[in-house]
Amino acid sequence: MTAEIISGKDIAQQIINDELQPRVELLNKKGVQPKLVVIFVGDNPASQSYIRQKEKFATQSGVFSEVRRFPDTMTEAELLAEIDDINNDDSIHGVIVQLPLPDGIDVNRVINAISPTKDVDGFTDSNNENLDIHEAFLAPCTPKGIITLLDKTRVTIKDQKVVVMGRSRIVGRPVAEMLKFRGANVTILHSKSTNTEKSSALKKADILIVAVGKQELVHGEELSPGVVIIDVGIHRKEDGKLCGDVHFDSCSSIASKITPVPGGVGPMTVVTLISNTIKAAEEKNKV
Ligand code: GUN
Repeated sequence: MTAEIISGKDIAQQIINDELQPRVELLNKKGVQPKLVVIFVGDNPASQSYIRQKEKFATQSGVFSEVRRFPDTMTEAELLAEIDDINNDDSIHGVIVQLPLPDGIDVNRVINAISPTKDVDGFTDSNNENLDIHEAFLAPCTPKGIITLLDKTRVTIKDQKVVVMGRSRIVGRPVAEMLKFRGANVTILHSKSTNTEKSSALKKADILIVAVGKQELVHGEELSPGVVIIDVGIHRKEDGKLCGDVHFDSCSSIASKITPVPGGVGPMTVVTLISNTIKAAEEKNKV
């Protein structure tokens, strides 16, 4: 079997053209211009590149974006004051604090200072705790982007055996909750799962979502033919090429569908961020 490649890049572009642009036009007609602010502390090179993609998708959708850059000497108190100003600025609908933050700043405190109604990353505790109603609020972007990717490629979720590798607060745990809410039979594998648990679950998986942050960890021999693979990882190999958490060549010869790295989950995370920003503007201007 040679897998169909699920292009998150193409699907994200389609969503921008067919869904996001019309939603922004409707808001514009009401005199509303959706606006996203990205707070960027320091100069992490990977963050620079992620932020460029966020700005690009925002512009293509008609969302105004502003990057506020601060030196890595910024204190936690200064950052909290900046967030407070943004929370109180009615012209701003969404704000994200680009991670990682410099050492010495309490990420949890900073994230939870963002007003839940402007938390378009979906990282605050209040937005993360309600994942069973993920349609009704600002859901975390990567998990919601994965669900959109499965829906757009017509992958059935209900009653399917889904294995989620990794139980991070930002991806593994919330995507597992969302999939359970959609009626999937979800198994979470993590660093403390035994080898027997892992191999037995992997062999049975209809859908496999890998978000462990380990380069090319999963190989095709561990899986059953026809599995749908969603690869959340991104790593730079010694030869300079990008790869994911799954070994693409061996996995694509056994899967029915697979996301590539780059161009798979990444663009879906960003398009969901922009969609959340529009949603925040829509909610604020509901009649
Ligand atoms: N750093 C890497 N990915 C992300 C993301 O999705 N949001 C934020 N705020 N920071 C990140």
